Amino acid sequence: MTAPRPGQASRQHGPRKAIPVNMNRPQIQQHADERLRIFNLPQDSLRATLANDVRTGLSARPKRLPPKYFYDEHGSQLFDDICATPEYYPTRTERRLLEIHAEEIVRLCRPATIIEFGSGTAAKTEHLLELAASDARIDFVPIDVSEQTLATAAERLLADYRNLSIDAWVGDYDAGLEHMHRYPGPRLFLFLGGSIGNFEEAEAVAFLSRIAASMGPGDYFLLGADRVKDETVLNAAYNDAKGVTARFNLNVLRVINRELDGEFDLNHFNHDAFFNHELDRIEMHLRANRPHNVAIRALDMEVEFDRGETIMTEISRKFTGDSLRQTFRAAGLALENFYQPDNEYFSLALARRI
Ligand code: AVJ
Repeated sequence: MTAPRPGQASRQHGPRKAIPVNMNRPQIQQHADERLRIFNLPQDSLRATLANDVRTGLSARPKRLPPKYFYDEHGSQLFDDICATPEYYPTRTERRLLEIHAEEIVRLCRPATIIEFGSGTAAKTEHLLELAASDARIDFVPIDVSEQTLATAAERLLADYRNLSIDAWVGDYDAGLEHMHRYPGPRLFLFLGGSIGNFEEAEAVAFLSRIAASMGPGDYFLLGADRVKDETVLNAAYNDAKGVTARFNLNVLRVINRELDGEFDLNHFNHDAFFNHELDRIEMHLRANRPHNVAIRALDMEVEFDRGETIMTEISRKFTGDSLRQTFRAAGLALENFYQPDNEYFSLALARRI
């Protein structure tokens, strides 16, 4: 795409600035298709971050692991499979909401840039991109930890929409956020899928505040959030009959075994996911089904498990209309519109900076 060249003609939304001029200068890769650039955000190696998180999390009581390590290639495939199970309603509910409301969202925002945190395959984003690219040039700026996923999605999208240019950023959302002010407005920021639920309230407010701080007055933010609902529906969504979610949960042990020379026996743990009423969240745990010790050789660590002891591997918070409004307000965001189905299973919340 538009790698800045001298004398290059302005695009409809103004010339793209040289990106990035930053102390932590990310590495840029040019691609055969000049509408695509891939930036590698500076980040500690996966193995170093994993080593720290595993050491800390498995020394703590109760034991914990961050959910981001589910998503190696195998885990990302399992997550896609979860989204296709009949029990896991969030993905198809959100996709349907986007189908119905993309037109209004694009009409309100008229985005020159669409920025997406944790874009994955960007399948749901296509409704927005299609409309936004129908009569104007548009920059799609996905930020994701998986370069392979970004590259595959970008190829597909570029083939489908000729008004589209893509700057893909490989790394954590937080690292990507500081570069987003360089893109032309109006900008539409997206955080879809309900992943906001992985954050504790304070972390969610901190992240949304950083988004709010990087928004201009004409910019919009669209958040996908899962809702508190009938407990049987929630519990089923995280305990699908085919056991895909169980395999996804156990996959984090496989990642530790591979990356840190660990000796977890997956048969010694059971998937345990349930709705916690007090905290309005699904908790996923791995529960040891016998007392045993596990060596993690790269950390020179031996972890002891009692029978029935758990590692909490994920929280997935569920919101009410009120709790969402409150989280937005605390982050300096003004709720503009709420899109949800009649059963209120899942919400898209559209906001602007206060
Ligand atoms: C990708 C974080 C939104 O919390 O529902 C799905 C991950 N975990 N099944 C969620 C997940 C188990 C998902 N998010």
